[in-house]
Amino acid sequence: MKVNNFFWDALGATRVTRARRKLIAHGDAHAPYTDHVGELTDVEDVSPTARRITFEAISPDVLPPFQAGQYVSLDLQIEGTVTTRPYSISSAPYVARRGADSRLQITVRHTDAPEVFAARWLYEEVRVGDEFSAHLPFGDFFYEPLRDARRVVALAGGSGITPFVSMAAEIAHGSLDCDLTILYGSVSTTDIVLREDLEALAASCERVRVVNVISGDEKGLPDGYEQGFISAELIRKYTQGSPSDGGTSYFVCGPAVMYTHVLAELAKLEVPERRIRTEVFGSPRKAGHAKEQVFELTVKRGLEETVIPARSTEPLAVALERAGIPNHTRCRSGACGYCRARLLTGEVYVPEQGDGRRLADKQNGYVHACSVWPLSDCTLEVPIV
Ligand code: FES
Repeated sequence: MKVNNFFWDALGATRVTRARRKLIAHGDAHAPYTDHVGELTDVEDVSPTARRITFEAISPDVLPPFQAGQYVSLDLQIEGTVTTRPYSISSAPYVARRGADSRLQITVRHTDAPEVFAARWLYEEVRVGDEFSAHLPFGDFFYEPLRDARRVVALAGGSGITPFVSMAAEIAHGSLDCDLTILYGSVSTTDIVLREDLEALAASCERVRVVNVISGDEKGLPDGYEQGFISAELIRKYTQGSPSDGGTSYFVCGPAVMYTHVLAELAKLEVPERRIRTEVFGSPRKAGHAKEQVFELTVKRGLEETVIPARSTEPLAVALERAGIPNHTRCRSGACGYCRARLLTGEVYVPEQGDGRRLADKQNGYVHACSVWPLSDCTLEVPIV
């Protein structure tokens, strides 16, 4: 560090304050990355179990810039519970940039699993004209030329296809400079989410290739489809050159179970770790209780202490939300650390896959409330937000 002289350095704070005032005076009145309000303008079926939801900006009246592959965190009010949920943006960034006709789309899938109540609510209950507040953009699951190889093989499962649809559309528009091959695993052809979009993108752009991999025992698959699972052999087949030579980046997005399988297949191919990027969809499922139990969760917030119920089948963040205790969340998969809290007593299940804590946090009893499940009565110290 350069030291000029005592007075110059001591007066540094004044210069910083002056520069800050100048920036504020010339800044936008709106905070660009938070608290956007959008109106839902369209809902459309994109498979028998998936719906695409379109938003247009209201306040501020422009959409913020984002990268293909990032996600939006939506504020939801469901039966008295205020919660947030992250959704990968399935539309391309250029669509959000185009002025009057700009919009942003997410795609949600229906599920009967009782703990996935937010996706079900979005799928079943939202209507055109509804307004949502949102925070965006988030996540580092996007193509970065300084970091990633020019050739990308995307390994997707279920609704994990959505960030790749955004990337493919951005490539086809000429705004993203990479070659994308998508291996997309589905149980059956009717299960494929955004199938028409994917086919149209692959047909319109030679840099985008889509290979559907069907795991069910379905006869007469269309040409170009593969049967089975996304395996090492299949990955090798659709990789130019050798998977281990570092000339291809692999992007993985899908449910936790698929993520584990695909990472093992990439390991068989000796793909260098720096060439693998991952995005886990949703909370990793707990492996603990066979039957649902309800524990007592003592929540310390400043001087306040509250005892609330916490179900063994739901992460602690959901218990806080059900009790109306404010708690910041964004990724809801254990990665970002927004929901960091300190576990003072009790036992929780922390899935290895969803454990994005720093080493110091692990050693000092901190947890990410969105991705830990109670195994006993617990005491949790949460920040005042
Ligand atoms: S919300 Fe990201 S770690 Fe919990």
